[in-house]
Amino acid sequence: MALWVCSTPESSLSLTGMTIPIPKSIDATLTLLSQGGYIADRSLATALYLSLSMGRPLLLEGEAGVGKTEIAKVLAATLGRRLVRLQCYEGLDIASAVYEWNYAGQMIQIRMAEAMGNSNTDSLSQDIFSDRFLIRRPLLQALTPDASGPPILLIDELDRTDEPFEAFLLEVLSDFQVTVPELGTIKADQPPIVIVTSNRTREIHDALKRRCLYHWVGYPTAARELEILRAKVPGADQRLAQEIVAFVQSLRDRDLFKQPGVAETLDWAAALTHLDKIALDEQTIGDTLGVILKYQDDIARIQGSEATKILDQIKSEIAAAHDRVSLGGRL
Ligand SMILES: Nc1ncnc2c1ncn2[C@@H]1O[C@H](COP(=O)(O)OP(=O)(O)OP(=O)(O)O)[C@@H](O)[C@H]1O
Ligand SMILES: [Mg+2]
Repeated sequence: MALWVCSTPESSLSLTGMTIPIPKSIDATLTLLSQGGYIADRSLATALYLSLSMGRPLLLEGEAGVGKTEIAKVLAATLGRRLVRLQCYEGLDIASAVYEWNYAGQMIQIRMAEAMGNSNTDSLSQDIFSDRFLIRRPLLQALTPDASGPPILLIDELDRTDEPFEAFLLEVLSDFQVTVPELGTIKADQPPIVIVTSNRTREIHDALKRRCLYHWVGYPTAARELEILRAKVPGADQRLAQEIVAFVQSLRDRDLFKQPGVAETLDWAAALTHLDKIALDEQTIGDTLGVILKYQDDIARIQGSEATKILDQIKSEIAAAHDRVSLGGRL
C-alpha cells in the first residue's frame, strides 16, 4: 500500500504576497489576532501560541457566541492560510468528513469503456479509483498540500457528532493521515493547524482531550467586550456602546435560560445603530429585547420592571464612572 507524503512549505504567503510566519511570542499572537479584529485575553493568546508552536490541536470550549469559531477564521485570514471547515452534526460520516468516490463519474467512465470495447478490467478499475474520481472532504483537504502552507482545520461543534466519529477523529489527529483503501495512506508531512470547538452539550472524550491543548472561552470582561464592540461595530455611538455592554453584562448575572453571548451584544449594537439610537431607554429595550434574548421565558422575565431596574442601575454606574474620570483629570 502506498504512503503519500504531502509536502508543504514551512512559511505561508498572505493575500498580499508577504510571508506570514507563525507568531514567536504570546504578545505577537495577541497582535496577530487584533490585526484580524479579534480581541483576545492573554490566557487565550497563550493557549493559541502554545498550540501553534507545539503543533498541537487546540480545543476551545465555551458558551455560544463567545468567539470560538471566529478564532480559526481570523487565524486563517491573518496567516494567509486556507481555512478548511468541518461542521459537525449528528450522523456525520466518513463520506462527508473525509472522502467519497464520484460514483456518477465512475459510472460514465465504465459506460464509455464498454462502448469503446475496452475489456481490460484491471486498467479500468485503476482508472476509476484514481485521484480523478476522488472527492476530497474537509479532513482530506486539510492533508492536501497548499502553496500558502498547512491550512487551518476547523473542526466546529464537535459535541454535535456521535462518539464513533470522535473515535475516528482521534486517529486522524494522532497521525495526521487517512487511508483510502483503493489508493493507500495519505499523510501530510506538515500537519494542519487544528482548532476544535465544542459548546459542551456533551463531554468530549478524555482520549481526544489528551491530544489537544484546552482552553475555556468565557464571557469577556466589560472592558474587553466594549473593545470588541468598538472594533466590530465602529458606527455605534460611544455612550450607547457603554450602555449596551453594561446592560448585557448585567443580564449575564441573572438566572436566564440562555444568556446573551458577544454575538448578541454585537447584533444589538448594530440593530440600535440602524434605529439611530444614541442611548438606551425603556421603550427601545422592550422593543428590541429579542435581539439579545432568544427564549420567550427570558424575555418575559426581563421585560418591563426588571429592564427598568437594570437600566437605572447601569446609568448611575456609568455616570459615577464618568464623574470619577473627570475628577481624576482635574486633580
Ligand atoms: N474576542 C472577540 N473579538 C472579536 N470578535 C468577537 C470576539 N468574540 C466574539 N466575537 C464576535 O462574536 C460573533 C460570534 O462569534 P463566534 O461565531 O466565533 O462564536 P462561537 O463561540 O463560535 O458561537 P457558537 O457556539 O454559537 O458557534 C462573531 O461575529 C465574532 O466576530
Ligand atoms: Mg461557533
